[in-house]
Amino acid sequence: MPRPTLLTALAIILSFALLTSAAFDVSSDNIAMYWGQKSKSYLPLAELCKNPNVNIVPIGFVNNYFPNNSSMGFNMADNCDAEHFACQALESDIQSCQQQGKIMLISLGGGDQKTAWQFADKDQAQAFATLLYNSFLGGNDPKVTRPFGKAVLDGIDIDLENGNSDHFDEMIAAVQAAAKSKGDSKKYWVTGAPQCHRDDNTGEAHLETALKTVAFDALYIQFYNNDCGLDPHADMSQYNFGVWHDFMQSNGVNKATKLFIGAPANSSEGSHYVDSPVLQKYIEATWANYSSVFGGVMLWDAYGAKANNNYDQQVKTILTDLKAGAAAAADLPGVAADSDTSPTTTRASASLPVDTTDTAEMCFVATELSTDIHTKF
Ligand SMILES: *[C@@H]1O[C@H](CO)[C@@H](O)[C@H](O)[C@H]1NC(C)=O
Ligand SMILES: *[C@@H]1O[C@H](CO)[C@@H](O)[C@H](O)[C@H]1NC(C)=O
Ligand SMILES: *[C@@H]1O[C@H](CO)[C@@H](O)[C@H](O)[C@H]1NC(C)=O
Ligand SMILES: *[C@@H]1O[C@H](CO)[C@@H](O)[C@H](O)[C@H]1NC(C)=O
Repeated sequence: MPRPTLLTALAIILSFALLTSAAFDVSSDNIAMYWGQKSKSYLPLAELCKNPNVNIVPIGFVNNYFPNNSSMGFNMADNCDAEHFACQALESDIQSCQQQGKIMLISLGGGDQKTAWQFADKDQAQAFATLLYNSFLGGNDPKVTRPFGKAVLDGIDIDLENGNSDHFDEMIAAVQAAAKSKGDSKKYWVTGAPQCHRDDNTGEAHLETALKTVAFDALYIQFYNNDCGLDPHADMSQYNFGVWHDFMQSNGVNKATKLFIGAPANSSEGSHYVDSPVLQKYIEATWANYSSVFGGVMLWDAYGAKANNNYDQQVKTILTDLKAGAAAAADLPGVAADSDTSPTTTRASASLPVDTTDTAEMCFVATELSTDIHTKF
């Protein structure tokens, strides 16, 4: 690339940096997409594994726990006979997704959750934790059927839409204790998907206890089906990402929890669907104010994204362009990178899905994308 063009590109990137004080953040361009609740004829897991846009796949749903018989409810639409925990045919697909670098999670709750999920006490929470660990994670109790066979998922997502999350901190601690007692050093992710409303100060009833007691790695805040959701005209007066930022800084166990913009992937999948140019405005406005906690976008769901002209691809382009611009800006001499490097922040950056692209290459990519950046900022 000839020098004058490069200089122009750098100047553009520099002005972008000054405008937004954006900082390079290795974990800001993630896409999480739920999978498991629609027919495999629309999108088999094997196909999703080949999609480079997706980083995190919460598989849904374990929709209840029955303390009476120490069993759980499990639903995966027609993807497998989940009711009888017979999804072993998905074992190799899950492993293949993981080999592509995707974080595969088991999601608890979901819209299909018909009855209240509730642990009466710590004992029930611990009993469920043991079942969960043996069913989906590193455990291997021969008395427990593993629905996905030998595939070991990468963690747990909490998406309760009924009941409450009392004792979920004890449940998560018990999962970690079970792993420790087995010498299982795998990092298990803990994520959650609260509805966006917080304004009445009672917050998200189903997840409220967990929000204040569980050390989440990431929250996919559902900015849809609620007044605080995304608006097709990009009217951000109700959009409350900032309220969530402040709430988690004050109340979150892990101050470095990454916050995702949760959005419908398709207009038929929830109210407050917005086209990708509108979502881009939300992403940029969120990044401009909260780059240190911004983790990316969660889409409900993978099937809808595919049906909607590969919406995930549109979103990924927005995220990677933004990240590349910020990376290049942080690399420029005289432009200070974000100085917010408290130990907690560092921990989260290191522990979220790590982007192995080295800085030099990132800079190159940003330079090559300069025309794009110019038109955008
Ligand atoms: C579980 O056990 C309790 C107490 O024995 C009983 O009242 C309840 O009906 C049982 N629930 C189910 C779903 O079997
Ligand atoms: C456990 O109990 C629940 C609630 O009564 C029931 O729906 C479920 O089928 C039972 N599961 C097993 C494996 O017996
Ligand atoms: C960003 O901060 C400005 C100034 O405080 C505020 O007016 C704006 O609403 C914020 N944007 C978002 C998306 O939170
Ligand atoms: C949503 O998905 C359906 C298929 O389920 C598709 O027919 C429709 O066009 C999609 N909507 C948008 C906005 O893409």
